[in-house]
Amino acid sequence: MSTQSASSAPQLTSPTEDDAARQYGAVLFFSDFDDPVTWGDALKENIPGLDFRVYPDVGNPDDIRHVLAWKPAPGFFEPFKNIAQVINLGAGIDLLVGRNDLPDVPISRLSDPGMIALMRSYVLFSVIRYARNIPEFEQAKRRREWQYIHPRPLHRIKVGVLGLGHLGGAVASGLAAAGFDVRGWDHADKTIDGVKTFGASKRDAFLSDVEILVNMMPHTKHTEKLIDKTVFDALPRGAKFVNASRGPVVDEPALVEALRSGHLGGATLDVFWVEPLPQDHPFWGMENVLITPHLASITVPEAAARDVAESIRRVSAGGEPLHRADTRRGY
Ligand code: GLV
Repeated sequence: MSTQSASSAPQLTSPTEDDAARQYGAVLFFSDFDDPVTWGDALKENIPGLDFRVYPDVGNPDDIRHVLAWKPAPGFFEPFKNIAQVINLGAGIDLLVGRNDLPDVPISRLSDPGMIALMRSYVLFSVIRYARNIPEFEQAKRRREWQYIHPRPLHRIKVGVLGLGHLGGAVASGLAAAGFDVRGWDHADKTIDGVKTFGASKRDAFLSDVEILVNMMPHTKHTEKLIDKTVFDALPRGAKFVNASRGPVVDEPALVEALRSGHLGGATLDVFWVEPLPQDHPFWGMENVLITPHLASITVPEAAARDVAESIRRVSAGGEPLHRADTRRGY
């Protein structure tokens, strides 16, 4: 925007805005969960004058070069013919793959230290809650009962992490640093300090003595219902399950059955096939299930904006964004 100055020569009051618009085009923000004001401020701190627009105040759709979005509805991208990149306001890009309203542009995800710290804290909390028998004490309190359970040293408690990607790897090393006996499984060979890793063909060996299983797999066509009856059956009786990644990686009826039969001793679930979890879902009525509403981790704008700004700069200069996802793999 420009205004006329009081002096005779017309001046742009804010040359950086025009510069930024010319250099980068406009950024469109869409999310029902994230705060656009904090994001706008954080991005403009990195790119002064950035043309930052918040959906539905799009202006001319042809100006939009970069889209920063979380869960855009089908058809969302159709009006924007000049998109150069899409940045997912989160880790899992499952809702951005296989769409027919999106041109062939780079899609990247966020991977900032704030998001990693939150995810690590959620999983640590969930695992420690089981390791320190907190559900039993919550029940004993309701019965007004002083129930002593001798604590087990953490290094004897076997925790398994399924999926050792960006977040899964950080979670596994966080658990190891906390003192647990940590094992990890991934379809690719991974090495993580303090974690015993198992490759693709070693899934059952990995599961056979895991007491607390943590799912950190992304949702792709290859991982859908990957955690099914055979996985639950391979765990020792009484094992606990934590899902902090995506609901559809789990065969939900098989999980309900494993919890009902007592083969699984409990579950901490942040993600589900259908969110919000429907009122009549059996999980709500299960004493041994802790439900949180998909918030194990969120993106922290102050931490992530640096990377997003860098991707805007790079893509505008014809380069690659940071944290580009592989849409064929789905993560
Ligand atoms: C949250 O679920 C994310 O993918 O960031």
